[in-house]
Amino acid sequence: MRDLRGVVLAGGSGSRLHPLTKTTNKHLLPVGNKPMVYYPIEALVSAGIVDILVVTGVHHFGALVAQLGSGAEFGCRFTYKVQDRAGGIAEALGLAEDFARGERVAVVLGDNVFDAPLGPHLDQWRQSGKGAMILLARVPDPQRFGVPRFAEERIVEVIEKPALPPSPFAVTGVYFYDAAVYDIIRTLSPSARGELEISEVNTRYIAQGQMHWAELGGRWTDAGTMESYARAQVLLRH
Ligand code: G1P
Repeated sequence: MRDLRGVVLAGGSGSRLHPLTKTTNKHLLPVGNKPMVYYPIEALVSAGIVDILVVTGVHHFGALVAQLGSGAEFGCRFTYKVQDRAGGIAEALGLAEDFARGERVAVVLGDNVFDAPLGPHLDQWRQSGKGAMILLARVPDPQRFGVPRFAEERIVEVIEKPALPPSPFAVTGVYFYDAAVYDIIRTLSPSARGELEISEVNTRYIAQGQMHWAELGGRWTDAGTMESYARAQVLLRH
């Protein structure tokens, strides 16, 4: 899939996993028999994506490059970019604009571990024309995530970490965007937690009637908190 480029977002301070993340990048912590970030990378490569941008922070840049290398080991080509501060997922995605060269991007958060193939979802999205696609997973604790609000079968809004979740779904950290995403990101302002929110990007696509969605399927969890990190070990045990 040369008309589609991959982006893995592996920045942030990993503060919710302290002290595990004091000297180690969150995304390099082991999950099962490999580092966490291998799951999103392998998912993109399995879907036929060859060019992958990895965005990470200044502190662990060297360790991440030492672990991942050029991409030869995975069958892909890595480009690396630095996110200077923990300014949010949407800010990190904004750094992908030059790399994307006007092509569509499949974005995966580096702390999302899952085993569902992305190929069928990408095919469905590409056939649907312009816009974006989010993938959902049913979870017991949606208040920890971006949560979709539905009107019938249609998503009308994505609310970031709602106290009263309007549905039992998490928006997973797997997102597909067309090249309009960078203009949207440029118009965002920081949220209460001081970040440019990906849920706000998704809500803009929804408002334009250009958001597609599907259930991811298979096994999925984030691994960014002690509890979900422990769950990832059990869920993805081989
Ligand atoms: C982020 C997103 C959230 C999404 C989650 C998936 O949350 O902001 O919308 O549901 O990733 O892992 P964070 O990990 O920054 O709390």
